[in-house]
Amino acid sequence: ALTEDNLNEVLEDGIDTENPGIYQVLLEDLQGNILKGHGRDYSVFLFLQWKPDDINAAKQWLQEFSKNYVTSAQQQSEQALRYRRENIPGGIFTNVYLTRKGYEVLGYEPYQIPGDQPFRMGMKDPEIRGLLNDPEVKDWEKGYQQEIHALILIAEDDLVDLLQFVNRINQDLRLVADIVHREDGFILRNKAGQIIEHFGFVDGVSQPLFTKRDIVKARTNDCNFSQWDSRANLGILLVKDPNGKTEDSYGSYLVYRKLEQNVAAFRRDKRKLAETLNIGEELAGALAVGRFYDGTPVTKSNIPTYAVTPSNNFNYEQDTQGLKCPFHAHIRKTNPRGDTGRVVSSPGFEEAVAVERIHRIARRAVSYGENDPTQEPETGAGLLFLCFQADIENQFNFMQIRWANPKNFIEVNTGPDPIIGQPEGNQKWPKEWGKPEKVDYTFKLWAFMKGGEYFFAPSISFLTHIA
Ligand code: HEM
Repeated sequence: ALTEDNLNEVLEDGIDTENPGIYQVLLEDLQGNILKGHGRDYSVFLFLQWKPDDINAAKQWLQEFSKNYVTSAQQQSEQALRYRRENIPGGIFTNVYLTRKGYEVLGYEPYQIPGDQPFRMGMKDPEIRGLLNDPEVKDWEKGYQQEIHALILIAEDDLVDLLQFVNRINQDLRLVADIVHREDGFILRNKAGQIIEHFGFVDGVSQPLFTKRDIVKARTNDCNFSQWDSRANLGILLVKDPNGKTEDSYGSYLVYRKLEQNVAAFRRDKRKLAETLNIGEELAGALAVGRFYDGTPVTKSNIPTYAVTPSNNFNYEQDTQGLKCPFHAHIRKTNPRGDTGRVVSSPGFEEAVAVERIHRIARRAVSYGENDPTQEPETGAGLLFLCFQADIENQFNFMQIRWANPKNFIEVNTGPDPIIGQPEGNQKWPKEWGKPEKVDYTFKLWAFMKGGEYFFAPSISFLTHIA
């Protein structure tokens, strides 16, 4: 069995999924999409409530579905290899996630339910909502107001195949569960084919990396991680599944949030900021996000550089006053890359950075709504935000509550993250890139939380022995 040390050490080259050695059992029993995104273009999310009158039937269904369709990390890697070598598409990819209520309704006792505190409380809990500054549950979309027991993620590159599969699953599923909500997601791309989010920025660039393939690729692109090491240990991502059937059965906590983006209003606000600072719109956008549309980090450049693969090899050592990339910028708030080691109360730089790095999350978001990136929707489009982690309180919640939302961050009156900080507020913007004079401007919040939940992605051996 894997040891604590195996989970805590950062492997030089990550896990070689094609030659996993001691990680073999783990990869066979871990659901896909956790260590590395599934990469399919289209996905459907089915939010379920088990029918209370026949829980055994629900368990039977879950067991059969998991045996037939749930994709392991190992299978995901094999499919990806086949695609690269023989151009054979991976086909249907699925995941199963459960809520605390979901475990309870299926008959599990408290000691058998994964123990993370926010997971146990649920995203609707008034205390959690208060901490995150989330809207009241009555203002969430109707489906998310329901009690949610499980989430089934189904993904495919072929949209027709996906919809046919979902229709088929829907029919069986209706016998054992109510589908209280459904979302249809997709990968949005710009003209250059890069993955973007609805505001138009390249997304999914900076991630903690776990697998050899990702690490080898990043090492070349990012100069052997000289400024920023994106490698991570499994301990920030995985926890033991209390109900797993193998010696290395692991799972991960999933934070799911539907974030509606008002694209037209964001662009108007960005224009107004550009006018206020008397700078170009592109730079104004970069000062809000921390990267230009094309992914160029604004701490390194005041113009986009159009790199095919945007760099992730940077930190803020040359920008400790936030004159190039403001402290409020989305990527600086969600990954300060050492900033927290420079504040007065810090225990020492190295130690603080080590602690800071434990807050990292594995983002697996997809877009929904309008799929033409030249349109500027006001409603009905946005991000289905998903992230995996080992400890919700110390990772997603910490990031949103302690970094993104507060106006004091690294300095007093930095202001909230203009992309996700709740509530919105005033920020300080460099009048000229790299110069000390700052101008007050309130960039309003244009991403609205429409509902969400905390889930656990259990091991496959648990799911396939559940009935
Ligand atoms: C990075 C957009 C929500 C955490 C980014 C990037 C963009 C972006 C454009 C830069 C690309 C990259 O480095 O991958 C958005 C939008 C959101 C949203 C439009 C909402 C609609 C969130 C939320 C969180 C989050 C809710 C977590 C609380 C992060 C993190 C990074 C990031 C950790 C990487 C930062 C780094 O390592 O440099 N996001 N994001 N994002 N975002 Fe978001």
